[in-house]
Amino acid sequence: MKLNSILITGASSGIGKACALRIARPSRHLYLNGRNQNALMEIASQCITKGASVKTKNQDVNDRQSMNDWITAIDSLDLVLACAGVSENTLSAPKSDDFIYDIIQTNLYGVLNTVLPSISVMKRQPIKQDVRGRIAAISSIAGFISSASAASYCASKAAVDRLMIAMGGSLKNENILLSSICCGFVKTPMTSKNSFFMPGMVDADQAAYLILKGIARGKRRITFPLWLGSIARFLDLLPPNWTDGLYLQGRKSQSKSFR
Ligand SMILES: NC(=O)c1ccc[n+]([C@@H]2O[C@H](COP(=O)([O-])OP(=O)(O)OC[C@H]3O[C@@H](n4cnc5c(N)ncnc54)[C@H](OP(=O)(O)O)[C@@H]3O)[C@@H](O)[C@H]2O)c1
Repeated sequence: MKLNSILITGASSGIGKACALRIARPSRHLYLNGRNQNALMEIASQCITKGASVKTKNQDVNDRQSMNDWITAIDSLDLVLACAGVSENTLSAPKSDDFIYDIIQTNLYGVLNTVLPSISVMKRQPIKQDVRGRIAAISSIAGFISSASAASYCASKAAVDRLMIAMGGSLKNENILLSSICCGFVKTPMTSKNSFFMPGMVDADQAAYLILKGIARGKRRITFPLWLGSIARFLDLLPPNWTDGLYLQGRKSQSKSFR
């Protein structure tokens, strides 16, 4: 996979940061986004040390116009990773109804605000080795299930997965490859406050490796660990009354109702 120009949202932390650090090398141009300017500058300087050239954009992915202006001003993009996302752990006031809107807003519309302008940039660039460009958005294995303890998160991730797979079906004729990244548990600040058991957890660098390997292979849906994804698919076939208790188990100590 020949990559010269790469854009990553949510590059200031966790999976996005790990992807940026794995991708950074001489002759690569990185466009890195996040809201935490200090963290973003720190990652940028680590990527520059590895030989990459870096431009940072301190930007909320929810600002559709600014995202569009930023992305469409870039000449060409070989790879876009939409990693920015929030969960009940990373929002400051998770108990109001706004919380539900905030999760759907960032996790779904933030991804759209990244993916749609990226498609228009890629449509105007030439085909190299059968591909114009690749775009991957991080959904989640949580999108395969309907967890009573994380309803808005599951809904947002299911929507991202459907969107990326369905849009990818038509865009492959334009040589633009769309992928949905269905992660299991990854050790990042997002999961650091979880007090329940997180089976199959990997660290952020391992997640970045699996994501980039899947994209290089042209996979439309990258699920890891596969066994956890398979169990989640099975659980989703069961009557909801059977599974509610399972999803609420272990969350009681966190004493939140995430609707
Ligand atoms: N960790 C897991 O187990 C896991 C599993 C499945 C899927 N995922 C998904 O993977 C993605 C990355 O999560 P992570 O685990 O790496 O979490 P993280 O360490 O909390 O990182 C989240 C990133 O998203 C950025 N972000 C959040 N809201 C933003 C906004 N409105 N505008 C711009 N950037 C924003 C944050 O940047 P700033 O703070 O600088 O704004 C940060 O860089 C998310 O979509 C998450 O849902 C994670």
